[in-house]
Amino acid sequence: MGETWTLLKLLRWMTQYFSEKGIDNPRLDAELLLAHALDLDRVGLYLNYDRPLLQAELDLIRPLAKRRGQREPLQYVLGTTEFWSLEFKVNAAVLIPRPDTEVLIEEALAKAGPCGQLLDVGTGSGAIVVSLASELSDWKMTGLDISPEALGVAQFNVDQHQLTEQIQLIQGNLAELPAQQYDLIVSNPPYIAQCEWDDLMPEVRCFEPQLALLADHEGLECYQHLTNQVRSCLKPEGWLLVEIGYQQADAVEALFVAAGLKHVFIRKDYSGQPRVVGGQV
Ligand SMILES: C[S@@+](CC[C@H](N)C(=O)[O-])C[C@H]1O[C@@H](n2cnc3c(N)ncnc32)[C@H](O)[C@@H]1O
Repeated sequence: MGETWTLLKLLRWMTQYFSEKGIDNPRLDAELLLAHALDLDRVGLYLNYDRPLLQAELDLIRPLAKRRGQREPLQYVLGTTEFWSLEFKVNAAVLIPRPDTEVLIEEALAKAGPCGQLLDVGTGSGAIVVSLASELSDWKMTGLDISPEALGVAQFNVDQHQLTEQIQLIQGNLAELPAQQYDLIVSNPPYIAQCEWDDLMPEVRCFEPQLALLADHEGLECYQHLTNQVRSCLKPEGWLLVEIGYQQADAVEALFVAAGLKHVFIRKDYSGQPRVVGGQV
C-alpha cells in the first residue's frame, strides 16, 4: 500500500520544497496553493490537517507545486490575484497587478469629478480600469493595450465584474493615442531599463511578459510618448497620472514640466518610494 499523505504532511513537504527552491515565503505559498487546489479557505486548511488526501487530489496538486518550484509566480499558478480588493484573472500574457499600483487608483479617485471620460494606457489585465470603474459608476472608460492576448484577459475581467457598459477595450500603440480628449489619463506603462533586466527576480524575468516591463531610453520611452501627446489628448483641467519606477521621479517630473503641465506632483507609495507622477493641463 502506498504512503498516506495527510494535508499537514503535504503542507510541510511543500514548504520544505519551496524553501529549497529559494522562494521567499514558502509556508504561505504552500498554504495558498493547497487551499486553492482543495477549494478550501486557509481556516479550512487548518481544520483539515489530519485528513488523508485522495490520489486524485495529489495528482492535481503535484504539477501546481512543480510549477511554483520552478519559480513561476503563484498568481499565474493559481490563475488569479487580488487588486483593490477585487479578483482578477491573470496569466502569462499580463503583468501581475502590484499592490503599489493602488496609490495610482487613490490619486485618480482624488482627481476624478462626478463624471467624465478616462483612458487607461497599457491596461494589461484591466486591473486599473476595472478598479476605477467599480468606484466611478458615472464615468466612461477606455483601456488601451498593444497586446491582443492581454486584451483578452482584460475583457474577461471586465465581463466578470459586469462593467461592459462602462469600459471599452481597444488595441493600439501608446505612441499614437486615440484622437479623442479625456478628463483623466492614467497609465502604468513598461518602465524597466534593459540594464536592470538581469537584477529582476526569476519570477518576473522568466515569466512576466517583457512587453509589459521593458522600455527604451533608460525606461523612460513610454513617458516621453505620453507627455508628447498629452496636451492634445486631455480636456482643459484634465490630469495625467502615471506610475513610475522609484528612481525615475526626477526624470518623469521633468518631462511633465517640459510638456507644460501644471500642478506637477510626486506621490510616494506606502513603502515610502516615489510611485506616481501627476500633472494637469
Ligand atoms: C506594466 S504593464 C501594466 C498592466 C496593468 N495596467 C497593471 O498596472 O497591472 C504595461 C502594459 O503596457 C502594454 N504595452 C507595452 N507597450 C505598449 C505600447 N507601445 N502601446 C500600448 N500598450 C503597451 C503591455 O502589453 C502591458 O500590458
